[in-house]
Amino acid sequence: MEQEINDGIKVIIADASHEKYVDEILETISAAAKVRGTGIAKRTHEYLAQKMREGKAVIALNEDGEFAGFCYIESWGNKQYVANSGLIVSDRFRRHGLARRIKKRAFELSRQKWPDAKLFGLTSGGAVMKINTELGYVPVPFSELTDDEAFWKGCQGCVNHDVLMRTDRRYCICTAMLYDPAKHKDDK
Ligand SMILES: CC(C)(COP(=O)(O)OP(=O)(O)OC[C@H]1O[C@@H](n2cnc3c(N)ncnc32)[C@H](O)[C@@H]1OP(=O)(O)O)[C@@H](O)C(=O)NCCC(=O)NCCS
Repeated sequence: MEQEINDGIKVIIADASHEKYVDEILETISAAAKVRGTGIAKRTHEYLAQKMREGKAVIALNEDGEFAGFCYIESWGNKQYVANSGLIVSDRFRRHGLARRIKKRAFELSRQKWPDAKLFGLTSGGAVMKINTELGYVPVPFSELTDDEAFWKGCQGCVNHDVLMRTDRRYCICTAMLYDPAKHKDDK
């Protein structure tokens, strides 16, 4: 399903044809982390390209096919959990509700692919906290997240990784937010 509103930006599920955007996505993510002086999980070209090929990524492009935004999803802990990660909106497309559209699409995709999974994310950003809250996420202690080692390995490239390790993975700089489908059974 594709969303298009009158700004001409398409928010779509990425596929193999979007691999050409991967390097720009990675550069935009790492440049934004430097500006914010914050930690960020490091991903490789192949990792993001694979998400695209598997239909686990959302990409936003303008009318000229220029990259505007991105995020991806992955399941963890035997598909009991799904994380939304790597959200980025390119500088010149910010503050127009694009992150909200991308997160909403990723949320719908996650719910569709893994209807019983708990959705979660780690963030240090106010915009993401706001959007997640609108989607029904609540802040939780890290103990309520997946214990899948492979997920936590993703934090290894973050500048704050020592905090996570020294607290035995109980606390870190990011806020953990979780959407539990069992608590939204009566939602329309
Ligand atoms: C964070 C980011 C994705 C927001 O993208 P965006 O398209 O500008 O966000 P939106 O326009 O959809 O804004 C959603 C809401 O968050 C608010 N918001 C946007 N940027 C914000 C910021 N830096 N701080 C606090 N709130 C912010 C907006 O005001 C909006 O709320 P409102 O509609 O009630 O006014 C973008 O600034 C970015 O890519 N930053 C660098 C990477 C990053 O921080 N990623 C998240 C890592 S967890």
